[in-house]
Amino acid sequence: MALGRYNRVDNNNNKSSSYCSTVTIVIFMGLCLVGIWMITSSWVVPVQNGDDPAEEKKNQLKDQVETVIVDSNDRDNKPQFEDKRNDLHKDGLEKDLDVSLDKYKGKANLAAEENQEKTEETKWDKSKKDNQQFNSVGGEKNVYNSENLGGQGSENAEKKSDSNKDDKKSGSENAEKKGDESTSRTYGDKVDKNDDKVSDKRSADQSSNEVFPSVAQSELLNETMIHNGSFTTQAAESNKEKNAQSSSNSSSKDYIWKLCNSTAGPDFIPCLDNCEAIRNLPTNIHYEHRERHCPEVPPTCLVPLPEGYKFPIEWPKSRDKIWYKNVPHSKLVEFKGGQNWLKITGDYLTFPGGGTQFRRGALHYIDFIQKAVPDIAWGKRSRVILDVGCGVASFGGYLFERNVLVMSLAPKDEHEAQVQFALERGIPAVSAVMGTKRLPYPGTVFDIIHCARCRVPWHIEGGKLLLELNRLLRPGGFFLWSATPVYQLKAQDVEIWKAMIEQTKAMCWELVNKTSKEPINKVAIATFRKPTSNECYKQRSQQEPPLCLESDDPNAAWNVPLQTCMHKVPLDPSERGSKWPEEWPARLEKSPYWLLSSQVGVVTKSYMQGMGINWSSVRNVMDMKAVYGGFAAALKDMNLWVMNVIPVDFPDTLPIIYERGLFGIYHDWCESFSTYPRSYDLLHADHIFSRVKKRCNFVAVVAEVDRILRPGGKLIARDDVETITELENMVRSMHWEVRLSYSKDKEGLLCVQKSMWRPTEVETLTYAIA
Ligand SMILES: *[C@@H]1O[C@H](CO)[C@@H](O)[C@H](O)[C@H]1NC(C)=O
Ligand SMILES: *[C@@H]1O[C@H](CO)[C@@H](O)[C@H](O)[C@H]1NC(C)=O
Ligand SMILES: *[C@@H]1O[C@H](CO)[C@@H](O)[C@H](O)[C@H]1NC(C)=O
Ligand SMILES: *[C@@H]1O[C@H](CO)[C@@H](O)[C@H](O)[C@H]1NC(C)=O
Ligand SMILES: *[C@@H]1O[C@H](CO)[C@@H](O)[C@H](O)[C@H]1NC(C)=O
Ligand SMILES: *[C@@H]1O[C@H](CO)[C@@H](O)[C@H](O)[C@H]1NC(C)=O
Repeated sequence: MALGRYNRVDNNNNKSSSYCSTVTIVIFMGLCLVGIWMITSSWVVPVQNGDDPAEEKKNQLKDQVETVIVDSNDRDNKPQFEDKRNDLHKDGLEKDLDVSLDKYKGKANLAAEENQEKTEETKWDKSKKDNQQFNSVGGEKNVYNSENLGGQGSENAEKKSDSNKDDKKSGSENAEKKGDESTSRTYGDKVDKNDDKVSDKRSADQSSNEVFPSVAQSELLNETMIHNGSFTTQAAESNKEKNAQSSSNSSSKDYIWKLCNSTAGPDFIPCLDNCEAIRNLPTNIHYEHRERHCPEVPPTCLVPLPEGYKFPIEWPKSRDKIWYKNVPHSKLVEFKGGQNWLKITGDYLTFPGGGTQFRRGALHYIDFIQKAVPDIAWGKRSRVILDVGCGVASFGGYLFERNVLVMSLAPKDEHEAQVQFALERGIPAVSAVMGTKRLPYPGTVFDIIHCARCRVPWHIEGGKLLLELNRLLRPGGFFLWSATPVYQLKAQDVEIWKAMIEQTKAMCWELVNKTSKEPINKVAIATFRKPTSNECYKQRSQQEPPLCLESDDPNAAWNVPLQTCMHKVPLDPSERGSKWPEEWPARLEKSPYWLLSSQVGVVTKSYMQGMGINWSSVRNVMDMKAVYGGFAAALKDMNLWVMNVIPVDFPDTLPIIYERGLFGIYHDWCESFSTYPRSYDLLHADHIFSRVKKRCNFVAVVAEVDRILRPGGKLIARDDVETITELENMVRSMHWEVRLSYSKDKEGLLCVQKSMWRPTEVETLTYAIA
């Protein structure tokens, strides 16, 4: 077992001559280990699975070429690589992997859940003990150590690293000797009765033709390996790339995790809760205190759980109710309670029918918009929407039913954790504010921008903020505004409306329709349209607001200050934005008309089916490096959404993602993402860690992954073996469960599941103390 796990761990150690002189012994020990494993596996595994031991063994010996998944398929005599999901659910691996999923489901009542948590803790304690016990058994210890999933506290890891050095060497040496051979393992879940034994199977000494345990991966791989010359990177565009932080100490295996002590507590967002930086701001007049101010050194501590945290309620139930204790913000309830936003009902927070605007249901409001402006055609012409000042994102939550994706924004606010509510409900949202910088999206990507009582002062300062929306909106796209100035007759509202009409006229936005009050929700909506040509711009008597300089790149959006100018509408048919995309869903598959032939390579399939993940219990997904959004496209028929992240130092393909009718955001993974802790069910990290760890502390990046991910959530990582090994060690020390670990040649694949574990030691982040 240890062969696979440690084969590249010791790369930092100087390969001394004594190392070489032990080669013979080492090979011998390696063979012993294989022997031991073969003996043990013939009984360990069957105890787990209740399979016939003889057949088990026979399969292992027979199928030299097959990967683990194939192996487990064989055990159940199932055809391999069935496309139908139903069949996949039945196969062995799926069962193994789903045991733990069921364990994590928040189905049981409160008491049961608390109990479960306790059991979980004791289980870990127990496996620690077991670990120590096995440590004294000499050669066998490696086998058991690695089998002991999630049972390795940092304490234990330390101990091991001393006593096991020789064995590790033997492992790595052995693996090297074998050259081309692959090492693959799967981990089933601990079965309650004998929870320290784990079905841990390894097909060492096998040369595999499968790079990864699924067929449809070459496509995704192709997407990953995309030629770099085709696109400039976001960093280059923004010209703001800072060289961050010292590089990580990848050699250290003794990860000592601590709990972050900050004023924000369980809601800590490092870049938004940097109290020190906020205190030192010269002014807050443009909401600077809600903008990102990342700490110089990203934190490596883990964010605490709120007291009484439970595994979140699953979509679609979560749209209407969530656990109050997961987002215990009573102030918002008091503040908004009278407006029918949300209520506390027992252990739940409930959302009766929508946000402030939607007294009688968001769907009615959505259909009302469609009636007022039929061109909108929800889910066909209009697919990707920006909702500014989203409340609890009910608009976005209900637009899912119309096949529309809504990127909802709201600032992080002391008493209105709106974005947190949205994410807990399973509705996409990010913490962001219209302040002094561009929003982290490329130009001309949103089909519609919506703002319902968003209290953004659009009309002031030359319409600076509205001009930012103009940058984001597609030519021909709509701005939907249903704030009080549209329908109330108070002096202030009337004044704002007048200013708004002037401002939009100067920007050549056409007022398409201003409805009267909608009878049910009692709001009216004004709809504006961005022009599709540049004629109007030239014909204005005053060039105010001015057109942007030709040199101003509308796609530059990472830490770029807002400009009071408008970009020309692209007219060249080869340019993106000159034509409206295909209707959804044709849009997803069609290779965008403005792509150069060297840039095509839009993919549709991915390797998801081989992972053994129950996708119907997954809702909030993030692709940490999305390229063309192939991962999201492959999941389009699932009841989930994918936040496609384009790291700023990778080729800027985010416009393509939007063109396909998917959505995403720019981000620098050396900093914290603008989201609350525990907001995603699944992260996909395809060759991102190896890159990012060159620029900044890998431990901090993993701590950020831990922050974003919900307990019970999963991380799928693919990278070079060195990085994957380092990552695996790290997440193990955080008591995550390794569900699949696979490597072949220089490529590694890892699927791990976060647990409820939190460290006890505390680290106080002085900059995050108010
Ligand atoms: C991946 O790329 C290679 C060459 O770059 C090509 O031969 C192969 O057909 C591609 N695979 C897929 C599935 O597109
Ligand atoms: C990608 O960029 C790197 C560094 O600039 C270069 O060495 C490499 O050859 C490029 N690859 C391709 C396929 O253009
Ligand atoms: C790396 O390790 C050395 C010694 O162990 C330590 O002094 C240094 O601060 C570490 N660097 C980082 C970035 O953690
Ligand atoms: C957290 O930090 C505050 C402020 O420095 C301190 O008073 C408090 O004792 C710390 N809490 C823990 C548990 O260390
Ligand atoms: C504007 O919206 C109202 C309300 O839905 C609708 O009755 C009217 O026909 C629309 N006007 C135009 C010009 O589309
Ligand atoms: C997958 O999850 C859904 C929703 O939680 C559940 O109803 C279903 O039974 C699960 N399927 C399997 C095969 O575990």
